[in-house]
Amino acid sequence: MCGIVGYVGSQPALDVVIDGLSRLEYRGYDSAGTAVSADGKLTVTKRAGKLANLREALAGADHSDTGRSGIGHTRWATHGPPNDRNAHPHTDCTGAVAVVHNGIIENFAALRLELEGRGHELSSDTDTEAVAHLLEEEVAKGASLADAMRRVCLRLEGAFTLVAVYSGEPDLVVGARRNSPLVVGVGAGENFLASDVAAFIAHTRDAIELGQDQVVELRRSGVTVTGFDGKPADVKEYHVDWDVSAAEKGGHDYFMLKEIAEQPRAVAETLLGRIGADGRLSLDEMRLTDDELRDIDKIIIVACGTAYHAGLIAKYAIEHWTQLPCEVELASEFRYRDPILTRSTLVIAISQSGETMDTLMAVRHAREQRASVLGICNVNGSTIPRECDGVLYTHAGPEIAVASTKAFLTQLIAVYLIALYLAQVRGTKWGDEVFAMIQLLGTMPQKVEQVLETVEPVRDLARSLAGERCVLFLGRHVGFPVALEGALKLKELAYMHAEGFAAGELKHGPIALIEQDLPVVVIVPSRARPVLHDKIVSNIQEIRARGARTIVIAEEGDEAVAPYADTLIRVPAVPTLLQPLVATVPLQVFACELATARGHDVDQPRNLAKSVTVE
Ligand code: AGP
Repeated sequence: MCGIVGYVGSQPALDVVIDGLSRLEYRGYDSAGTAVSADGKLTVTKRAGKLANLREALAGADHSDTGRSGIGHTRWATHGPPNDRNAHPHTDCTGAVAVVHNGIIENFAALRLELEGRGHELSSDTDTEAVAHLLEEEVAKGASLADAMRRVCLRLEGAFTLVAVYSGEPDLVVGARRNSPLVVGVGAGENFLASDVAAFIAHTRDAIELGQDQVVELRRSGVTVTGFDGKPADVKEYHVDWDVSAAEKGGHDYFMLKEIAEQPRAVAETLLGRIGADGRLSLDEMRLTDDELRDIDKIIIVACGTAYHAGLIAKYAIEHWTQLPCEVELASEFRYRDPILTRSTLVIAISQSGETMDTLMAVRHAREQRASVLGICNVNGSTIPRECDGVLYTHAGPEIAVASTKAFLTQLIAVYLIALYLAQVRGTKWGDEVFAMIQLLGTMPQKVEQVLETVEPVRDLARSLAGERCVLFLGRHVGFPVALEGALKLKELAYMHAEGFAAGELKHGPIALIEQDLPVVVIVPSRARPVLHDKIVSNIQEIRARGARTIVIAEEGDEAVAPYADTLIRVPAVPTLLQPLVATVPLQVFACELATARGHDVDQPRNLAKSVTVE
């Protein structure tokens, strides 16, 4: 998820673009760059790192004589490490066209080969640079920048927001979008483009949300919107009534709420580009060969906190799909227990930040023991991926809130993809079985969206329990790690005692905790596994008989649990192994709302940090 700004007007473009980027830095801070158009040429400045590095590079520039049209970008790296070379904007061979991009162009490798075959020299590792050279070719044929953009967009696959400038058409910025946000700010004698309204509401609150497969031409005099086919598009203006701070949070009160709401897109983007046209998984970025993966005889997952819970869920999928033994270890315990590691062991390190010291030290220990190490990480170029043999990035975009939400769901997607890929290369699943599961994964963004649309009763429930001292969480199979995750969310946000249990373990002691009206959340497995389902119905009856207030999360159509649920929360029916993707979301909302009802700042809970870089 990157930040994009475009401007045409009477103010110095550099000032407007840099100010806009500063409001979007939460969307990505691996690098930043600008391209401004003046006197028939483009001036491109870009630096790795935070926006401050770009500001420093521009400190000498006299902004008053820079152009009145320009574009800017803050990067959240997906393809290619964060460095100056991979920073946006990217230009064509002549330096006359500059483009910035948010999203993933799935067919960029083929386009790159085609362009290099026609003599273009591409210098970065990014998918974006190919677009600059494709635009160059169309402009060279006499097309306007807008026509060039329309033609190029028809050749791209994947999700993209593109914004470009061309020195031959000053005072013009052209944008395009497919499955990625782009909004127009309509000013008086000036107009804006941005990834979200935060970038320009200091200048104007009149906006136009661009639709799917549309191209926008931004001039001082006005805005023109067409489809990729060139036909005029109907657009409607709306008025933004958020303040700047709210705008950075997408209108939500907290980043955590915004990140919970972003989960469908985060899941979809983590799936993007990893399924080939033949329906087979393609995870080349893992940098582990198929033969190396076939030689694996054991998997050990190391992680902390929420990432550890993702690892616990991964175990079920990996063992079921690949027949490989899979252990899951708290990273902080891993190296002190003298783990048995050989060259045939694959250690998978899961970390949103890529900087957690406990996990990093576990990675180093595993590598010293000659195991192969694969990272699952959300921050491109962070320390842990750099020290792994291979990495599979989640594409959740920056996760600002301390409590991990969208990163967790995308970690699950990543572990499902790895497990299916292992099954694919090791032949423990037929191609059609892998394909069928991939198809099901492809429906999960919509299933998560469905949960988000029905969580209002969960918020009401959370507020009603704000005065409670404790909440217990029960689950079986993959529902057990979900119970642990629900308890962790409540602990770290509401500062309330909460504990997750394997439901079958209750009778071995913890059931003594049950007392009248004690709230107990129970994650009920899919009815597709009757043996699991029936056992947990019994567990619900056991705690209910002892006075518990039962809050039951169950799939649509499951009526067997209804008589025993004081509160019944419905989630879409999905296969057992995928249920954590939908069952976790109500628990995130529950914890966030209860903490808010207690007056806590859910983005920055006490005593916690987003990335724990000490052991
Ligand atoms: C989860 O809500 C917490 N923020 C915490 O448990 C976190 O998951 C853990 O510290 C691991 O962080 P990482 O994924 O960045 O390695």
